[in-house]
Amino acid sequence: MIHIDRSRCVRCGACIRDCAVHVLAEGDNGFPAFRKEDERYCLNCQHCLAVCARGAVTCNGAGFADTMDAEPVPDGGAMAALLRQRRSIRQWRDAPITEDVWARLVDTLAWMPTGCNDHRLHFTIVRDRAKMDWYRRETLRTLQAIVRTRLPKLFFPKFRRYMDEIMRGDDVVFRNAPCMIVASTPKNAPCREADPWIALSYFDLLARANGLGTCWSGFAVHAFKSLRKIRRALNLPRGYEAGAVLLFGIPDVAYARVPHPRPMLAEVQ
Ligand SMILES: Cc1cc2nc3c(=O)[nH]c(=O)nc-3n(C[C@H](O)[C@H](O)[C@H](O)COP(=O)(O)O)c2cc1C
Repeated sequence: MIHIDRSRCVRCGACIRDCAVHVLAEGDNGFPAFRKEDERYCLNCQHCLAVCARGAVTCNGAGFADTMDAEPVPDGGAMAALLRQRRSIRQWRDAPITEDVWARLVDTLAWMPTGCNDHRLHFTIVRDRAKMDWYRRETLRTLQAIVRTRLPKLFFPKFRRYMDEIMRGDDVVFRNAPCMIVASTPKNAPCREADPWIALSYFDLLARANGLGTCWSGFAVHAFKSLRKIRRALNLPRGYEAGAVLLFGIPDVAYARVPHPRPMLAEVQ
């Protein structure tokens, strides 16, 4: 439900033009009007609320008082430097993340975009070292039992090296990281595959901008999908599945140089 306060509205039409699903249209005397019959199409994206400089819009209960002033954002050069210097971190310092940084990381999760503004992402944040060690131990134990059957070596000879590491007790899944975040989506979410990766990509950059190191774990995604015991420990809401996993903590390595990667295939049209 979108409500327009006519005492504030200057009929500029900005909310109508920016509505992605056209549930706002020009009504009597040029004021924006919400099409009640189209209510089910409203994405609750709050563009109408964000674009209105006059504070005239209330979108599904949220009004001007629920918004913040726009703040300066990093410039393009700073963002490019952050991206070029991003490296997967697999060496960690035994040092705590400050509560300020934790608060910023967790609060910002609510801003992650989702397909059709589905917004049903679920995040499991593991910051307790003992809990993280439990995931490590249980996963390693199960993987060692699987490798012992010799079937993986038969079917996946390419991954022999990882199997040897698993049998040695190396943490190839969680990379000895002190913390992790798992993003999960309901199986019926419109963009269930993309939403977790996008959300954690943004989390990744925010973590790095706050002095943390991160490492993706595709292995952990597979582990959560296929090993029941560790999946259950995530305590996911009914119908949810883990989609992406990012490990993080204070890095214990610094990179002196920024190498040039091989160029990506790209075509400018
Ligand atoms: C989708 C995805 C899954 C990955 N899974 C793992 C993983 O399971 N374990 C790991 O150590 N690194 C993992 N990585 C990190 C890559 O190995 C790493 O990005 C690549 O070697 C390039 O190094 P860089 O990130 O330092 O540039 C993953 C990266 C991506 C994008």
